[in-house]
Amino acid sequence: MIGLIVAYTNNRVIGNAGKIPWRIKGEQRRFRELTTGNVVIMGRRSYDEIGHPLPNRFTIVLSNTASYEEENCTTVSSLEEAIKLAAERFPDKNIYISGGAGVYRAAMDLVDVMYITEIDAEIEGDTFFPEFDESAFTKTVDEQVEGDISYAYVTYRRK
Ligand SMILES: NC(=O)c1ccc[n+]([C@@H]2O[C@H](COP(=O)([O-])OP(=O)(O)OC[C@H]3O[C@@H](n4cnc5c(N)ncnc54)[C@H](OP(=O)(O)O)[C@@H]3O)[C@@H](O)[C@H]2O)c1
Repeated sequence: MIGLIVAYTNNRVIGNAGKIPWRIKGEQRRFRELTTGNVVIMGRRSYDEIGHPLPNRFTIVLSNTASYEEENCTTVSSLEEAIKLAAERFPDKNIYISGGAGVYRAAMDLVDVMYITEIDAEIEGDTFFPEFDESAFTKTVDEQVEGDISYAYVTYRRK
């Protein structure tokens, strides 16, 4: 199963100046729950923001300029290579495409399901989630969380 996981605002912002431009307590719960025990694929800048391999997951970083090699982390230079490596090394695990923008764009046609956190706010940013053909997916709203900034966990499953 190849999934994509992202949180974006009403204006489709995912990041600003290399960081996630909101702080909402608990909002990353679904990311943690889904990806734990599985494989995440992310671009070099997203990895740099976190700064270390995520615990209890295997992280594959995409980069042509850097190399991160640790117990739970490796680096490859293309998305195809990352998916091949994940499928060969961890055939029973799910793969989660975890950003950023270019990685999401490159993976969009390959993913079976998208786990999206819709942040109900307009927030300034410089990095955006790409437009996609919503008619190719069935959308379900899994959970709505109210707060200072409300958000919803939604799932888009490819038809
Ligand atoms: N809201 C969310 O859910 C979410 C999720 C993830 C990230 N973010 C935010 O998004 C921003 C980072 O995203 P970004 O789009 O700027 O950068 P990014 O995708 O994380 O990293 C870009 C870098 O990754 C490498 N890369 C990307 N695609 C590649 C490919 N197909 N093959 C080989 N290498 C590839 C390249 O590294 P080299 O230059 O080293 O070759 C590229 O410069 C941050 O603000 C972060 O906080 C938000």
